[in-house]
Amino acid sequence: MYQNLVRKEVMGILEKEVGSFLDKFLTPIEKIWQPSDYLPDPSSDDFKYDLEEIQTFAREMPYDLFVTLIGDCITEEALPSYESWLMGVEGINQEEKTVGWAHWVRAWTGEENRHGDLLSKYLYLCGRVNMREVEVTTQYLINDGFDLGTSMDPYRNFVYTSFQETATNISHRRVGTLAKQSGNGKLAKMCGVIAADEARHAKAYKHFVAKILEIDPSEMILAFEDMMRKKIVMPAHMMRQSGQAAGELWEHFSDAAQRCMVYTGQDYINIMKDLLDEWKIEHVKGLTEKAEKAQEYLMKLPARLQKITDRISTPDLQFQFKWVKS
Ligand SMILES: [Fe+2]
Ligand SMILES: [Fe+2]
Repeated sequence: MYQNLVRKEVMGILEKEVGSFLDKFLTPIEKIWQPSDYLPDPSSDDFKYDLEEIQTFAREMPYDLFVTLIGDCITEEALPSYESWLMGVEGINQEEKTVGWAHWVRAWTGEENRHGDLLSKYLYLCGRVNMREVEVTTQYLINDGFDLGTSMDPYRNFVYTSFQETATNISHRRVGTLAKQSGNGKLAKMCGVIAADEARHAKAYKHFVAKILEIDPSEMILAFEDMMRKKIVMPAHMMRQSGQAAGELWEHFSDAAQRCMVYTGQDYINIMKDLLDEWKIEHVKGLTEKAEKAQEYLMKLPARLQKITDRISTPDLQFQFKWVKS
């Protein structure tokens, strides 16, 4: 039915459904949770007890898990700044007059903004964090920007966000589970509600890709292949702390997340498999010769990655982050 469509046209076809995407995958502002719902109320008589509880649990948190939580918070804090990138993606018009893609981007960013807000307020209260250093990292992260390998292509961006939302769901969920196991119910709840948002977001972006696969399968598969060949980089890959060059802190943060099993190389492979299943890549028909080759590459990728991952070990050495008060 559709032949030789350009990205802009495909985005235009889908744009008619943005209203229903908003209803299905996002939550109305006055119904969704807000950070204050999960933070102690300073005007309450219980505040000092709540604070003491938060501080006691924070002191007892294992170092790797604690820095992973801080890194996750910083990643979330910088996220609203990506709105400016997404507004430039082909087929997204910031000056739209009716509900369209720009509306989706704003509404999604609004939901995301609550994540960094909640976590950073928690970290401020917990008494174990050098907030100035955390704030410096956040400012650097926004300042340094990122290169996600998507260019201004909506197909590549949707592959990226499908992957990323799934990864953040895993990582917040795991921090929540570990917090719960240690009896830290407050933090477990916070991470749980954030993880639930990420799960909705992942569903949305996966749905967009599934729709595009129906309309423009060859180009969508080629975009997916290209993103996987480049490897999905995390949005905080340029992370640094004071005194460092851009990107210097990233590996230490990533190693800490691997050591406490909050986000691992195995998760990367599992997400890849999940996306292949979700989009039924194996069964996509009507592909060009080039796209068929990409399909083959994608289907073989999890096994190839597994071999590599099995050989990699995470360094045991703990790095001293300036974020944590000694
Ligand atoms: Fe988030
Ligand atoms: Fe999200």
